[in-house]
Amino acid sequence: MSADMAALDQRMAANAEAIETELERVLPPVGGRQARLCEAMRYATLGGGKRLRPFLVAATAELFDVPFVRARRVGAAIELVHGYSLVHDDLPAMDDATTRRGRPSCHRQFDEATAVLAGDALQCLAFDLLADEATHPDPAVRCALVQGLAAASGVDGMCGGQMIDLLAEGRELDLEQVLELQRLKTGALIGFACEAGAILGDAPVEARRALRGYAGDLGLAFQIQDDLLDVTGHVALTGKDHGLDAAAGKATVVALLGIDGARRELQALQRSANAHLDRIGPCRLLRELFEFVISRVN
Ligand code: IPE
Ligand code: IPE
Ligand code: MG
Ligand code: MG
Ligand code: MG
Repeated sequence: MSADMAALDQRMAANAEAIETELERVLPPVGGRQARLCEAMRYATLGGGKRLRPFLVAATAELFDVPFVRARRVGAAIELVHGYSLVHDDLPAMDDATTRRGRPSCHRQFDEATAVLAGDALQCLAFDLLADEATHPDPAVRCALVQGLAAASGVDGMCGGQMIDLLAEGRELDLEQVLELQRLKTGALIGFACEAGAILGDAPVEARRALRGYAGDLGLAFQIQDDLLDVTGHVALTGKDHGLDAAAGKATVVALLGIDGARRELQALQRSANAHLDRIGPCRLLRELFEFVISRVN
């Protein structure tokens, strides 16, 4: 590993620790008659995951001199939505996955009804966090964050993408259709994580536009690498079931272009992402992060 990548690794680990602490603080303690629900919410979000989306909030917030405590809180909210999306994605009605983050998936550890409710409640908690005064003193900023997360998660974001993903099983989509699916199911939330730093920092329009371009490329690259890992990865590293995409006939770039074709697509996306960043400045951290995303093994 190069010195730059080792430094990035350290920063990501420190950020992950800060997010773990924040999540621990905001998640409901296990107790009362809803104890089982609280336990499932904690199971689905604590003690695992790369915490990439919160790191993106911190990295973009840093460009606009936003204090880390604010970025951390917004990052935690996004991570709650991400956790909910994984719990529901693993359900038998969706990908029917047995393993997540090296442990039984939430519905396997608890039961399907509890997993559905845990996902629902995680989503509610995310919006509660963003709306809270402690997130930002300006209500207009809080509203923009709430609206941004809602848009990234809903019909024109993650949920819409998941619907298309399921409908596309066993069907032939062309490359543009697959990329559109992936922009929604994965790209939208990653895009909001980048945008959130700009919202918190009241960034100029030009910088926002460039960041949006970078985030679009990063989101696609992230999902293509995820699809590659489903074929080429090691369960011991990814902590999730392998080969599910091919078994379900998922529409992926790998299914369409093969492993080498998907890797070429990653290179093209990296060139495009770097060109977007050239319009803002050096942005070393964001460039390194892209490299991390396309070379990650988990
Ligand atoms: C997995 O996301 C689901 C996709 C959107 C591809 P991550 O790979 O970020 O999952 P964790 O949070 O690190 O477990
Ligand atoms: C899921 O994509 C994207 C989500 C919105 C959760 P995948 O179904 O490929 O994610 P994994 O591979 O199960 O993590
Ligand atoms: Mg899925
Ligand atoms: Mg899945
Ligand atoms: Mg996958």
